[in-house]
Amino acid sequence: MTESSDRLFHVLDPRQFSRPLLDELCALTTRVRTIAKERDGARSLQNLLANKRAMLYFTQPSTRTFLSFNNACHVLGIRTSEIRDPSISSEVKGESFEDSIRTFSSYVDVIIMRTWGEGMAAQSAALMERIRRPVPIINAGSGKDQHPTQALLDIYTLERSFETRGGIDGKVIGLMGDLKRGRTARSLAYLMKNYRKVRLVFVAPESFRMESGLKHHLSDNGVEYHETENLQEVIAELDAIYVTRLQAEYDTAGESSAFEHARFRIGIEEIKKLKRDAIVMHPLPRGPELDPEVDSDPRAMYWRQERNGMWMRAALLIKIFGVEAALAAPP
Ligand code: CP
Repeated sequence: MTESSDRLFHVLDPRQFSRPLLDELCALTTRVRTIAKERDGARSLQNLLANKRAMLYFTQPSTRTFLSFNNACHVLGIRTSEIRDPSISSEVKGESFEDSIRTFSSYVDVIIMRTWGEGMAAQSAALMERIRRPVPIINAGSGKDQHPTQALLDIYTLERSFETRGGIDGKVIGLMGDLKRGRTARSLAYLMKNYRKVRLVFVAPESFRMESGLKHHLSDNGVEYHETENLQEVIAELDAIYVTRLQAEYDTAGESSAFEHARFRIGIEEIKKLKRDAIVMHPLPRGPELDPEVDSDPRAMYWRQERNGMWMRAALLIKIFGVEAALAAPP
């Protein structure tokens, strides 16, 4: 396994990850999933963090991030508590967000949170530092802003898919859809500065383009990118196409009605134009932008991505708690 001297405590933003740390997390993910395949290995994982408790505070809807974190905790023996609806917590009585987080930190060893608001995980981490509580905060999706753990599982999926072709380095990766409000594509794009000679192609309508902050970040870090509204023009050159859905939940004035689904979707006709060894990714859940008929194509990686999520999140928890050395030795 690649050794990394990087410590990992709060997980807030993709910009905190270095290449050695990403490589280490990918190797650790493979190691955990391999160990878990054997009965004895699964049992040893159950004891790895059996003295720890986790809080899953998910006040914005989630299926796979919640379930994969919950099950990653259970794989490692971590006991979990959850709040998924603030109307049944004391927030409904007027308790402040910070007081709620402080209360969670009285009972658990890690807080995993998904929020409608941007910056709330960072605010929680700052609170933990201020009150000197040694409780890591994991951002499991912060409004339109970031989804760093999704980006980690996406990196793992890309690396595994290109395992025999030199990994992510040198690949052409398309990101398509509502790139303005989609946190998954943004977080993944931020991580690309860690890879050599990657070229990004942003495929989106003018009013749904990537925000300028990310584009400046890519330029400042030497990551090549270009933008287009025409998928057909670029599809044949892509090694991966990362499809995303329209984020209509963030509409303030019906913005989504202007989105032309037919031009920004992957169906059977588009699949025919992709390279034979290209892959199709999607963070899920999907909408009309990804035809279920694509599911049976061997290039469809999104269900694998979903499964990778639990293992990457287990690896992340192992790294945060610093128990990698206690993992069973590789065969
Ligand atoms: N990809 C993702 O974040 O899915 P959920 O919203 O279902 O957690």
